[in-house]
Amino acid sequence: MSYQTISVLPLSGAMGAEITGVDLSRNLSNRTLKEIQRAFLEYLVIVFHDQFLNPADYKLFAQKFGELVPYPFVEGLLEHPEIFEIRKEPGEKRNFGGNWHSDMSFTRIPPLGTMLYALEVPSKGGDTMLTNLYLAYENLSEGMKSILNSMQGEYSAALKHAGGREAVMNATRFEIQNLDRADEASFHPIVRIHPETGKRALYVSSGHLSRFKDMTVEESKPILNFLRDHATQPDFTCRVNYRKGSLVLWDNRCTQHRALNDYHGERRVMHRLTISATHF
Ligand SMILES: [Fe+2]
Repeated sequence: MSYQTISVLPLSGAMGAEITGVDLSRNLSNRTLKEIQRAFLEYLVIVFHDQFLNPADYKLFAQKFGELVPYPFVEGLLEHPEIFEIRKEPGEKRNFGGNWHSDMSFTRIPPLGTMLYALEVPSKGGDTMLTNLYLAYENLSEGMKSILNSMQGEYSAALKHAGGREAVMNATRFEIQNLDRADEASFHPIVRIHPETGKRALYVSSGHLSRFKDMTVEESKPILNFLRDHATQPDFTCRVNYRKGSLVLWDNRCTQHRALNDYHGERRVMHRLTISATHF
């Protein structure tokens, strides 16, 4: 089905689309909104450039997809606590979200999607890489699919492989809050069925997925390493490049992403909103 009220330009053969012909600061017609929502499900990540939004406009657009949920470990903006500012200053080396993951997969009902709005971008670099987890599932052998179909994984916020949540957060500019949630973990199916499309996705959230249920970390590791490498092969990915005023929305239920850290010496400021799901 084609699009009538928006233009949709794919970002790669695997996933992602740039949408043009829309001013998100204005009231969207139902028809336009429905087409944007359809493009979101079809392309998994959608990008709008040259949008000039105040925080209220930004939240209003995000709320068309679901209720907003704060990110647990960093305090939001004073007047807009749902907005979490991801900032890296010219003198800083570590970035936030630099490893492959699906946002907040450690929670019982992980968020539907995440939005980023670019306030300040480096002259080059600072892109986000994303990977299509439907393709990751479809391209497994039938034998591996049938093993994984019945497995669950433990998705943990603890980041033990990287020295622990507190150490990881302290290495960035952020002051960690809600430390009591630093070890939060949930079990989820490794192969999840997307609640809206009904398609199967390999729910690999590499930074959080610590082991298979009823297996040790050591036993799980070789297969998890294989799944991580499999799920992030270039043929399944796209890359989002930002300019000031770019807005991106990705679907956490069938993608994972990582923030590239290739712009040392320059500032990058993004406002993040996280959109909750009503069920897994
Ligand atoms: Fe993230």
